[in-house]
Amino acid sequence: MSERDRLIDHNYDGIQEYDNPLPRWWVILFWATIVFSVLYWFNLGVGIGPGRIAQYEAEVAAARASAPPPDVSSPDELAAMATNTQVLEAGKQVFVTNCASCHKPDGGGLIGPNLTDNAWIHGGTLAEIHKTVTEGVLAKGMPPWGKLLKPDQIDAVTVYVASLKGTNPPGAKAAEGTVVP
Ligand code: HEC
Repeated sequence: MSERDRLIDHNYDGIQEYDNPLPRWWVILFWATIVFSVLYWFNLGVGIGPGRIAQYEAEVAAARASAPPPDVSSPDELAAMATNTQVLEAGKQVFVTNCASCHKPDGGGLIGPNLTDNAWIHGGTLAEIHKTVTEGVLAKGMPPWGKLLKPDQIDAVTVYVASLKGTNPPGAKAAEGTVVP
């Protein structure tokens, strides 16, 4: 074929082009990468190893297994803190900064319930208060403080909240939940 024969028929302002198809090996490689990417995306067993999803899950499981257990204070440790004036003072600071907006600075209750009476929605033992504060009650607007405060801040505010019982502040909200003697 002469150069002239391979000229494409059209003509743009006097410019003409040749028809030079890509080599077959190049085209095959091109389509192969597309097929590979689809199989890879859906984790359909191309490549080496167990596949990217299984590999990710194995890595996450290994990381979880090697992480140290969360440092949760035992009920006895909390009970000991409940008589420690330094811890109570630290808990008061945490309460005024983070909790007063919803529970009122004196704990009498505003958006959140009264924390000074002997009625509890989620239980009034130190362990139960600790759990409520850590996990929150998202559906009711109580934030999960475990994500926002340090473990010793949660401990301190827990014993501080427990110390508010019976303080009887003026204008407190009516009792909610179950009365615990
Ligand atoms: C954005 C508002 C808001 C903030 C801030 C907030 N709370 Fe609450 N809290 C609530 C609400 C609302 C409830 C009621 C949950 C329910 O009805 O189940 C609640 C419930 C509680 C309870 C359970 C009371 C019961 O009767 O069982 C405790 C304990 C508590 N909060 C402590 C805290 C502490 C400690 C902080 C600060 C670290 C805090 N809260 C900050 C809104 C808040």
